[in-house]
Amino acid sequence: MPIDFKGLRVVSFESRQAAEMAELIKAAGGEPVIAPSMREIPFEHNSEAFMFAKLLLAGWIDLVILMTGVGTRLLVKTVATKYSIPELIEALRSVKIIALGPKPVAALREMGLAPTIFVPKPYTWTDLLGTFDEKYPLHNKRVAIQEYGQSNPEMIKALEERGAQVLSVPVYRWELPEDLEPLRRAMQDIIGGDARRADFALFTSATQVRHLFQVARMDGVESKLRQAFKQVCIGSVGPIASRAITEQGLTVDYEPDTPKMVHLVREMARRGGDLLYKKRTAFANRVDTNQWRRIDMVWQPGADGQPTIKDSVFMKACRRERTPYTPVWIMRQAGRYQREYLRIRKKWTMLELCKTPEVAAEVTLMAVDRLGVDAAIIFADILLVTEPMGLNLEFVKGEGPVIHNPTRTPGDVDRLNDPDVNELSYVFDAIKITRRALRPDIALIGFAGAPFTIASYMIEGGKSRDYAKTKTMMYRDKATWHTLMERLTKILSEYLNGQIAAGADAVQLFDSWVGSLSPDDYRQYVMPHVKRLIEGIDKSAPVINFSTGNPALLPLMKEAGGDVIGLDWRVDLGDAWSMLGDDVAVMGNLDPIVLYTSPKEIRAQAQAILDKAAGRPGHIFNLGHGILPDMPPENVAELVDAVHELSAR
Ligand code: CP3
Repeated sequence: MPIDFKGLRVVSFESRQAAEMAELIKAAGGEPVIAPSMREIPFEHNSEAFMFAKLLLAGWIDLVILMTGVGTRLLVKTVATKYSIPELIEALRSVKIIALGPKPVAALREMGLAPTIFVPKPYTWTDLLGTFDEKYPLHNKRVAIQEYGQSNPEMIKALEERGAQVLSVPVYRWELPEDLEPLRRAMQDIIGGDARRADFALFTSATQVRHLFQVARMDGVESKLRQAFKQVCIGSVGPIASRAITEQGLTVDYEPDTPKMVHLVREMARRGGDLLYKKRTAFANRVDTNQWRRIDMVWQPGADGQPTIKDSVFMKACRRERTPYTPVWIMRQAGRYQREYLRIRKKWTMLELCKTPEVAAEVTLMAVDRLGVDAAIIFADILLVTEPMGLNLEFVKGEGPVIHNPTRTPGDVDRLNDPDVNELSYVFDAIKITRRALRPDIALIGFAGAPFTIASYMIEGGKSRDYAKTKTMMYRDKATWHTLMERLTKILSEYLNGQIAAGADAVQLFDSWVGSLSPDDYRQYVMPHVKRLIEGIDKSAPVINFSTGNPALLPLMKEAGGDVIGLDWRVDLGDAWSMLGDDVAVMGNLDPIVLYTSPKEIRAQAQAILDKAAGRPGHIFNLGHGILPDMPPENVAELVDAVHELSAR
């Protein structure tokens, strides 16, 4: 899935860098529609600002009201083109200053100044008036008020009613362009009518959004424009432009993790086709796509040329069928390396997120939208299963999972609940919601921790370096160990079957820490349980059996079962597969650390792994273990593209 708009029409509202945007869009295979939407006002044209400075220096002003941080800085910058800053600061010291909130206060602090009067939260202009009424009578006072963006006539009137003489000091940096024709034409393209409709609208600043809607208002087509955006895919360069888009009652369809024009264009080009199709299909299904979540998309597999799960390249690879390219997904593909994930995590703790099916589904779909991978993995955690067993689980910031009442004695094992798997029905619900909204030929992977890995958390109480407590129980008290493993096997098997019943197309067993065992120990203490667990899983869903750390376990893992064996990076994929045999598929196995490097290195190493698979049917590309939280998101996307392009056959 290369970077390609496929000739679709892409509107850019960029002014200063209009030519660069046109080039970027063309290079990405799009037809650019360039609609400059703003014009920079030279500082020296800002006559109100100079009038303010003149009156301030002349001692005419008693009080300055600073409304915004941006406006305060811009005012100072403007005045500095004609007056001396130290003189201005001196003059400001001898007047009263009132600032509306922390942002103008910060701007003042940069000049070594502080407000003389404080406004209480939430810093609205009614709070401001209240402050005056309590602390500072305005009668006969000469008040300068810095305004940014829009003026507030009601507030000025209220100040005047209190006896103040008001000098309004609007500062602004951008105006509409002199020639509005290109912007109007682009607006008509978005609205549609006779012309072919624009497909994408890319906003690279908040002012572009406001100006577009300002012109729409002038022309009386504001509501038409808003309606039209239901069928146009909206890209935003970063959080500030996104807020302006949201304020217009629209939803941002894509925002790159790195707020730069190049990233916006390239990433929209690689993902935009899918996003646009979803948006227009959802619109046709009467979803209000101006206010929509990913889960609002409902596919009808097989209808109107829509694909079905039979078309899934990932599922074919699980069955070792030939595929047009090597499918790829990435462990931890939804997570802290993404800004959109972090934004959601600010509102919800990890456990709340897992237990709110709509949000867990949204995060699951987000990873697919952003990366273009061939499979989604339901957003959950392997440790959720410990809660209904009676354990007190917490995800501690910076530390990872902690179990506050670990399972260490035979009595502890005895006291574990034999839970009803439906206590985890929130995961099943998340799967149902995700499956409906996920493109039908993209597989949805359910998962569980394997018994050893779960047991290690239950016994250690958290992460561990040497699994001393776990292994001590295992060696010292075999009966207790096997009882614990049996109880885990039962609940895990019900849990995985519940996920399959809810709509998971495949399931993965994460035996992340079993590599700390020797082959003999694996055979004796783990394999019988994993074998029984896998045998009990509904045969309609392929099983991926994954572990890390110890290649010597691979033949035994194959014996334990699984349609796909997950490999970490410590083995040569070609050798491991030859050893495992052709009757099993393999998943892996790029060293995740490669994602810190460069597109060139990522491509080279992806190619090396594809060479080792040598076109044998049944290879699913993945990292050898999960993405780390600080990895560059662009490199993750680069890996997905590299695998798809380099393996195309
Ligand atoms: O995208 C996906 O792969 C699906 C989601 C997923 C999570 N955990 C989300 C998560 C999956 C498949 C897991 C499995 C999991 N959880 C494993 C096995 C996989 C592996 O990496 O070996 C393990 C060992 C766990 C236990 C666990 N959960 C740990 C060690 C941590 C802390 C990791 C860290 O980086 O802090 C978690 C928390 C966790 N699980 C996070 C996520 C996105 C981070 C939560 C956050 O702070 O936002």
